[in-house]
Amino acid sequence: MAKRFYVTTPIYYVNDVPHIGHAYTTIACDVLARFKKAEGYEVFFLTGTDEHGQKVEKSADERGEKPIELADRVVVRFKELWDKLGITHDRFIRTTEADHKKAVSDLFERVKANGDIYLGEYEDWYCTPCEAFWPETQLIEGACPDCGRPTQRLSEPSYFFRMSKYGEKLLAHIEKTPDFIQPASRRNEIVSFVREGLRDLSISRTTFSWGIPVPNDPAHVIYVWFDALTNYLTGVGYPDEGGDFAKFWPADVHVVGKDILRFHTVYWPTFLMSAGLPLPKKVFAHGWWTVEGKKMSKSLGNVVEPGAMADEYGVDAIRYFVLREVPFGLDGDFSRDALVHRINSDLANDLGNLVSRVLSMVDKYRGGVLNEVSSHGDEPEDVELRETLQRSIAETRWAMEELAFHKGLLAVWTFIRLVNKYVDTTGPWALAKDPEKAQRLDQVLYNMCESLRAIGLLVFPFMPATGEEIWSRLGQPKSASEGLMEEIEHWGGLAAGIKIRRGESLFPRIES
Ligand code: MSP
Repeated sequence: MAKRFYVTTPIYYVNDVPHIGHAYTTIACDVLARFKKAEGYEVFFLTGTDEHGQKVEKSADERGEKPIELADRVVVRFKELWDKLGITHDRFIRTTEADHKKAVSDLFERVKANGDIYLGEYEDWYCTPCEAFWPETQLIEGACPDCGRPTQRLSEPSYFFRMSKYGEKLLAHIEKTPDFIQPASRRNEIVSFVREGLRDLSISRTTFSWGIPVPNDPAHVIYVWFDALTNYLTGVGYPDEGGDFAKFWPADVHVVGKDILRFHTVYWPTFLMSAGLPLPKKVFAHGWWTVEGKKMSKSLGNVVEPGAMADEYGVDAIRYFVLREVPFGLDGDFSRDALVHRINSDLANDLGNLVSRVLSMVDKYRGGVLNEVSSHGDEPEDVELRETLQRSIAETRWAMEELAFHKGLLAVWTFIRLVNKYVDTTGPWALAKDPEKAQRLDQVLYNMCESLRAIGLLVFPFMPATGEEIWSRLGQPKSASEGLMEEIEHWGGLAAGIKIRRGESLFPRIES
């Protein structure tokens, strides 16, 4: 069977400019996409923007522009940021695109044809910022349980989706598919919510017009979540069920923030069940970032702008930091101190230093050329080096399946630290003084460079420029990107005779 992998980010609202929270999900998905490619998978990576709804209409109104003008302006900010951060999405979808509107109408019709959409009257407590209705019982002192802002009583004619019909089926699916909702701690939250009984869901609005019209009843626009979630189908060509759709649907994983897990694991699967379409294999909810211990907010003026951070500290350092600092799934705190500490210890000290040490020794003792060796050595430290690499590869693979990025990086760093130890133990500077040890020196230098080659490949999904740079310094013709993971399972792939390039320090220390 062909190895394929379909990964998605949420689509981001255009009434806000991109911040570190958005960059976090997108970087995580990019790492996954690059890793799978290195593993030989054909990958489809989708991201984009969520452009309809009352909030966008209102923001545009306040600025005296049309909603689409606002969207056109903000979407550039997202696209530029993803370029800067090295994001390799295959499609950037905008919900205002014609093919998406067609997909949403089609899904609506399909669900309707199945008898799951009816016209009714909807009245409840409505939170405008969250675009969500709430039953009285869930309000907290009259305010929205999600954002704490005031709600208002609202009544309007609305089309309803018979979500209530799918509660049991959904529970059964969650039960028999333990991977469907990750991490497991979040699964329980969703299960209790579904167990309380699902209500039918209002899926159209008449109180504003910035949205996709309901087929045959254009006084209604389709509710934003029905519109937005469908992007995952549009992205791979739905309603055409051949081509990319046949290749990639169902998605392997929707990566989302914890705040939107319910939409993805209750609304979305029940829409798909009704439409008779397969469900995504996994939905993974990550945690939220605070900044220097505080909630990130415009009013506090502490919104972390990832582009500016990348200019200051480097793209790879930011990519590394967000995935190494916090276990994926838990909340975390972004602080400059923590970032600088990671750069200095993990990047400058462990990785950067290793690369400089190894390459300068090849330069100094062998004029920058790697000699042929007949064996890679059987000293205990040689064996330990090869075995540790195999373990690190296996652990990284396991971690990536689990989306445990920090554990993947830890496994890579276990190997990096061991190679540093290998340099200390074997002591090439001493070997170089003894002409009888010339062969051993060649072995040791070879093993160190072969280790760097593996490290280049392992760090590449996380830090693409660094991975490429390590490979280029080792004179490797191929870029470190596609289908190469298997290659490093076999020790000795690095061809002798290559000319290495010492280069500048990869990560200069930052003085705080
Ligand atoms: N448009 C919807 C998603 C529709 S998907 C079919 C939406 N957009 S959003 O722009 O508000 O949020 C997008 C993502 O950013 C969410 O996954 C959310 O969890 C994430 N984050 C927003 N602030 C965040 C932090 N402070 N930290 C981490 N992630 C955060 O919701």
